Amino acid sequence: MKQLYRKLASDVYYVGVDDHHTELFENLWKLPYGVSYNSYLIVDEKIALVETVKGPWADEWLDNIRELVNPAKIDYIILNHMEPDHTGALPDIARIAKNATLIYTPRASDMRKSFYDVDLNEKKVEDLEELSLGKKTLKFVHIPFVHWPETMATWIAEDGILFGCDAFGAFGALNGKHFDDEANMELVERESRRYVSVIITSYFKFVQNAIKKVKDLGLNIKIIAPSHGIIYRKNPNWIVSKYDEWSSPKLDKYCAIVYGTMYGYTHRLAMKLKKELLNLGVEVKIDNVSYSDIGDIITNTVRAGVIVIGAPTYDAFPFPRVWTYVNELQGKRFAPRPVGFFGTFGWGGGALEKLQKMAEEMKWEVLEPIVKVRGRPSKEETEMVKRLAEAIASKLS
Ligand SMILES: Cc1cc2nc3c(=O)[nH]c(=O)nc-3n(C[C@H](O)[C@H](O)[C@H](O)COP(=O)(O)O)c2cc1C
Ligand SMILES: [Fe+2]
Ligand SMILES: [Fe+2]
Repeated sequence: MKQLYRKLASDVYYVGVDDHHTELFENLWKLPYGVSYNSYLIVDEKIALVETVKGPWADEWLDNIRELVNPAKIDYIILNHMEPDHTGALPDIARIAKNATLIYTPRASDMRKSFYDVDLNEKKVEDLEELSLGKKTLKFVHIPFVHWPETMATWIAEDGILFGCDAFGAFGALNGKHFDDEANMELVERESRRYVSVIITSYFKFVQNAIKKVKDLGLNIKIIAPSHGIIYRKNPNWIVSKYDEWSSPKLDKYCAIVYGTMYGYTHRLAMKLKKELLNLGVEVKIDNVSYSDIGDIITNTVRAGVIVIGAPTYDAFPFPRVWTYVNELQGKRFAPRPVGFFGTFGWGGGALEKLQKMAEEMKWEVLEPIVKVRGRPSKEETEMVKRLAEAIASKLS
């Protein structure tokens, strides 16, 4: 029988599972390549499990563990983060590993009690507290808000392994290729960037803090083992530097246009703006909200130096999917940057006024002119598109 686990180092194993079933992560973000729930087993004098998996994958996961040890003998269950994609199978393991102690941060304790009725002892670990398993010693590094308040990472100094939790994770099932020297790294880069953009954008500041903390601790990291996606053993610095880059407050020099249209008037303005920007040598990424996936739109826009939003008025509001995007942008606390607006209307309008109000609330600089057109643009209104393009270009130069 093919082994169900993978070895990271002596007595350290991957025992996680692939999910090819869930269509949308958090019921929001598409998973065209699936996702993995990574779980790790450390078989020392004491046996420690790092993370569980999402509930429906409990049986498959327990089988992986059984190939290595009797799960009843597990001494510690380490929960770096309480989100149910990593803790859903806790009741299943709790029924078997009756003598295990749960290990998590003090902030995780109340959450665990609210989420799960399990009858196990707990040990709340402080930042940088250590726990000996025999030959190996674990150290717990609190990394709050990456991306929940109770989050920590777990470090094995003897092996140089950092279990980073959601930090350094990616979408995409592993399909037997668990390590960075086995995987298609182009796909890993795309799927980890999308993962960071949709899951962690609101907490970029905390990602930067966590990276600084790990660097300041001077850990000699040989392997980064996150809770989703590829394990980095060939080049762990690659994913650290990517996360650093993607969460950096310094934005990229391109313009993202996000627009909606029902009958094409707003679309024509979008195309006109794109053409003017390209003529000025500005790099453009453009998404029509009715065709592009919302997660892709967030990924395409989160690092854009300028965002331009185009919307027809729909029942006195911006076109609904544009409004959804704008709410995401606010909720994800996109870093402030110049924003432009264009749109069309049939009678009273309302879309651009609402968008402008949003920009004021967020204290974003609104670029002039705002291009507001009834139906087809006049010559003067077409000229306004050109001036908006020039204003964008000067912001990105
Ligand atoms: C369902 C629907 C609701 C609309 N609601 C408004 C409205 O409340 N106020 C307004 O000024 N125009 C409204 N309009 C008119 C559109 O904003 C206008 O036709 C616009 O130019 C359409 O742009 P598009 O061709 O990019 O879809 C509405 C149109 C539709 C189809
Ligand atoms: Fe999470
Ligand atoms: Fe997760």
